[in-house]
Amino acid sequence: MIKKLYASRIDGMKESIFSTMSKLNNEYKAINLGQGFPDFDGAKWIFDAACEAMKSGKNQYAPAAGIYSLRAAIAKVYEQYYDLHVNPADEITITAGATEALYSTINALIEPGDEVILFEPVYDSHLADILVAGGTPKFVTLHAPDFSFDAKELEETVTNRTKMILLNNPHNPTGKVYSRDELGIIADCAKRNNLLVLSDEVYEFLTFDSTPHIPIASLPGMKERTITISSTGKTFGLTGWKIGYAVASPELTHAIMSIHQWTTFAVNTPGQHAMSYAFGKLEEYLPDFKALYEQKRDLMLAELAKTKFKAFKPLGSYFMMVEIPDIHGHEAQECAIDLVKRCKVTTVPPEMFYGKSNEGKRLLRLCFAKQDQTIIDGIGNMGKY
Ligand SMILES: Cc1ncc(COP(=O)(O)O)c(C=O)c1O
Repeated sequence: MIKKLYASRIDGMKESIFSTMSKLNNEYKAINLGQGFPDFDGAKWIFDAACEAMKSGKNQYAPAAGIYSLRAAIAKVYEQYYDLHVNPADEITITAGATEALYSTINALIEPGDEVILFEPVYDSHLADILVAGGTPKFVTLHAPDFSFDAKELEETVTNRTKMILLNNPHNPTGKVYSRDELGIIADCAKRNNLLVLSDEVYEFLTFDSTPHIPIASLPGMKERTITISSTGKTFGLTGWKIGYAVASPELTHAIMSIHQWTTFAVNTPGQHAMSYAFGKLEEYLPDFKALYEQKRDLMLAELAKTKFKAFKPLGSYFMMVEIPDIHGHEAQECAIDLVKRCKVTTVPPEMFYGKSNEGKRLLRLCFAKQDQTIIDGIGNMGKY
């Protein structure tokens, strides 16, 4: 008889709020503005490159670090967009989505007792990965309306056990894009206290109103201590392909590879060939891609203005937060359930993304990576609340 079926490291793991809300959404046949991915197809012009790779026999295991041409294409993007020199030979790891890059990085670098500073509301897999690795999360709160943080709070959260600051920029769920000044504060804190920075930048190409995306690795003295993670799934709207990457110094890349080789080992080969082709066309592709999402953000903001929900305008990602109206005495969780059951629209209450403050109690997350009619109908249903 097995005494205990599962390892204690999964003790605190609950069903994610996304799964809970999606189940409710299906049960009540609601419009889903909660689910965080596009309900339309991604960049179709990439498909032929994937088929061509398959037909020309590129179907066996890729090298563990990823095919060289994809790593070289990513290095070129860093040079062109961020003036950052990255060596494709030993500073890039291709992973099964950003999710695996996060898992491999955190498990390679964090050990029991290490503290990791996160900005809340957090992206939930960041927290889960830290807990699986035995690390201790510490929180710094991003405050509405602009989701700024207090530099003093950040400094006071650092202890002699702190190993890493985990950043998500542009930020899911608030749509915040960190300014150069804010990144400077985080970078100074990391350098002063000799900390690593893990920067999840999966929405790097989704910034609006000419807001620049600045990788924290591009700040003086930061490249050596930063691991930057991104996702071709977000950049090319093909989340189901699950091709992500981690960019870090040779030493940190070696550590990440140590976990990566025993988890996925290698990522699907034809998809990597297709993405290497896609990055070559990034410059042509980006203007329409950004314009599409900016138009969807503006549509959602315009529709929300007709309701009692107050939106916080996002400058990046495909998410926004709204404040719930004070009309039924509800907090966010009850409001979200009422919205699905009575108004037939699904949102995500972000309360469980907060580890310290209760600032999520009056907020809901909406995703605008949806067809225009879905946005109009979904927000129309919120108007009935
Ligand atoms: C902030 C953030 N990081 C990582 C991911 C996961 O990316 P991938 O699909 O490439 O694993 C997501 C997906 O929603 C995300 O929002």
